[in-house]
Amino acid sequence: MGDVTSRYLIVSNRLPITAVVENGNLELKASTGGLATALKQVFGEDNATWIGWPGETGALMRKAREQLEDGLEKAGMVPVYLAAKQVERFYEGFSNGVLWPLFHYLLDTVRSDAGRDWEAYREVNEKFAEAVVAVYKPGDRIWVQDYQLCLVPGMLRKRLPQASIGFFLHIPFPASGVFRILPWRREILQGLLGADLIGFHTFSYARQFSSCLLRILGLESNVDTVTHDGRLVRIGAFPISIDTEHFETASAHPEVTAKAEEIRHHHPGCKILVGVDRLDYTKGLKRRVLAIEHLLEKHPELAGKFKFIQAAVPSRAGVEAYKQLRKQIDELVGRVNGRFSTISWSPVQYLYRGLDGHELLGLYRAADVMLVTPLRDGMNLVAKEFVACRHDDDGVLVLSEFAGAAWEMGEAIIVNPYNEDELADAMHRALTMDEPERRFRMQRLRKRVRDWTVHEWVRQFDQALTLVTTENAAWHRT
Ligand code: ADP
Ligand code: G6P
Repeated sequence: MGDVTSRYLIVSNRLPITAVVENGNLELKASTGGLATALKQVFGEDNATWIGWPGETGALMRKAREQLEDGLEKAGMVPVYLAAKQVERFYEGFSNGVLWPLFHYLLDTVRSDAGRDWEAYREVNEKFAEAVVAVYKPGDRIWVQDYQLCLVPGMLRKRLPQASIGFFLHIPFPASGVFRILPWRREILQGLLGADLIGFHTFSYARQFSSCLLRILGLESNVDTVTHDGRLVRIGAFPISIDTEHFETASAHPEVTAKAEEIRHHHPGCKILVGVDRLDYTKGLKRRVLAIEHLLEKHPELAGKFKFIQAAVPSRAGVEAYKQLRKQIDELVGRVNGRFSTISWSPVQYLYRGLDGHELLGLYRAADVMLVTPLRDGMNLVAKEFVACRHDDDGVLVLSEFAGAAWEMGEAIIVNPYNEDELADAMHRALTMDEPERRFRMQRLRKRVRDWTVHEWVRQFDQALTLVTTENAAWHRT
């Protein structure tokens, strides 16, 4: 990160480590998800403090709090504890029951009883703002992350009028016609406008945000700048990426090579299709399994010739829509396997768990085809991780046109994940693509993830934030 004399305060709902208390014993586990993956690779290089939720409720945490706080302090992290009710209403209810499905265009999944949860959302955002104020020193740069904390920039601006505040949204920002459904649309926009800089993954999300400012608040932006409350607010596209070098190096480890060989060895004569996701309804898992079924209906000659390995790490298991999804995927996988399996082969191998580092990278390396087919996704780092691990310049990426990554990864086979027939055809094309074409595409994809890494993302966001903070300071001096 840029200037070592100023400190970065990273503020996100989830810390990069999650505390789990089992039988009174505390365990700290790496958090899953794109935000944690991306930011933890740049965090800790120099002067940064990370403020967030360690992932357990206050009540459980009290037992192990001392031990936890010791661990967090050493790691430069400041915990914000949530009470059980806050987890239910702020985290599960409003953040993941309303904003998450709405911003991913899955309107049927948006909870209809959100009124009671809005208050908790506001209250927890206040709690985060207070935690920031408690550690803030003049000169610090505050980076607020993601949809759970949209009100924090506005709350901070009231308390720290001169602070340098950036906000980055890790999920899509929807079209104004969708965003306007939200009863608290004005409050959310006004909260975000407390930042000096508001970043999105793509120009399209940034444009949609500007259009909401105009339609809902009547604020006209001038290219990428809007004036609000006597300050400039910049709006920009900063596509997030991965620490490519880390993935390149880690995936060359002999244990990863052994893992990849082991996976291939277990499926002799089969091409391997892979999916790696959080178990989330936005990831298109149901349609992916249905497309496998459709592939076998259209191409019965493929029976016994491929294996689809899907790893899905449990996520937000307290939210009803996620509980239902788990059941549906269990049933669907069972149905497809029941229908097409023989004594010696089944089409789908489903792992309901997180993979450890070597397994994950081994799977990326063993894959002939990587299926990244979300119904909607802010960016999707799995696509980039897969490509970074392919030293052999081989493997085919099938990528949803509704993932932010599709804007940068045009050499993938781009698909509409809602079209089961197209998805099955894309799988067939990927399985039968000749080697020169696979190499041609993969080499170009690899160059892209080498040229634009998470370090560039940090640098550009940081520079843009410094610029607008300086402009605002100069404006207030005149
Ligand atoms: P999201 O942020 O919505 O979860 P991304 O694709 O951007 O989606 O990021 C997911 C991150 O979580 C990646 O770093 C990926 O490696 C990791 N991940 C996803 N599923 C698993 C899994 N089953 N096991 C281990 N890691 C996973
Ligand atoms: C996505 C979101 C993150 C979130 C992650 C894991 O990446 O953008 O903000 O942390 O999913 O979800 P969880 O609800 O477990 O924090």
